Amino acid sequence: MLNDQDSYLRWTQTRSMSVQSEIKRVTTHNLQAMKNAGEKIAMLTAYDFSMARILDDAGIDILLVGDSASNVMAGHETTLPITLDQMIYHAQSVVRAVRRALVVVDLPFGSYQSNPGKALESAIRIMKESGAHAVKLEGGSEVEEAIHRILRAGIPVMGHLGLTPQSIYKFGTYAVRAKEEAEATKLREDARLLADIGCFSLVLEKIPAHLATKVAEEVDIPIIGIGAGPGVDGQVLVTHDMLGITKDFAPRFLRRYLDLYEGISGAVAAYVKDVRMRDFPNEKEQY
Ligand code: KIV
Repeated sequence: MLNDQDSYLRWTQTRSMSVQSEIKRVTTHNLQAMKNAGEKIAMLTAYDFSMARILDDAGIDILLVGDSASNVMAGHETTLPITLDQMIYHAQSVVRAVRRALVVVDLPFGSYQSNPGKALESAIRIMKESGAHAVKLEGGSEVEEAIHRILRAGIPVMGHLGLTPQSIYKFGTYAVRAKEEAEATKLREDARLLADIGCFSLVLEKIPAHLATKVAEEVDIPIIGIGAGPGVDGQVLVTHDMLGITKDFAPRFLRRYLDLYEGISGAVAAYVKDVRMRDFPNEKEQY
């Protein structure tokens, strides 16, 4: 069995020969080359400058300005309330921080579903006002026309199938999607459609691993999974969840790499104590 040092060494050796080690700025073309070379793509969410700078410096390939900002930044129960203006504000902060990653921005609920012209206008506002590199939207054949219009304007589009949180009131639950044959078949057809019409990538959220693997084999574009198992071309998590800033969200697919909630609350409690005890600031911490 490999110990930590061996596996780190193996990782750095593989990395130095990889497509991604050659990338100065990630483009949709690099992501396709990574899929073609069998290299996995790492994606996380970001909503502000400071966090985006850390994630970018750490080597993340894609930063998603997700509409999950509605939950983790604004405290809403769902992703539905966040507005286009608010998404643009978050995207501007992230774009200012990023030197390498591809920045993808979610089109929020209500900014693309009503008609393709509105979808295009929303996508143009995101690209023009934030400087982001691509947009993401939820749905398959229902949003085909909207995607066509956006693509025709030269804006790269990432699709999103499976559990699509903007439809939570239709689903009624955040449970695993496409367990039944009919929904699985529709998802595979939608994935092929999105690839055929020109989406550069596709997120699959919370679906059975065997189905996600099949989709990643069937379509040529990079498939990024969240709760979709290891057989896809890359993984995405909500940064606040994987860093343990959010406390109560604990789905099976989530791996927590840090417990920042405890870390931050311990640091804040120590600061409060130091202030109250007149221990901060000391002689060296003043002018
Ligand atoms: O908004 C978001 O964070 C997302 C990811 C879960 C893929 O869409």
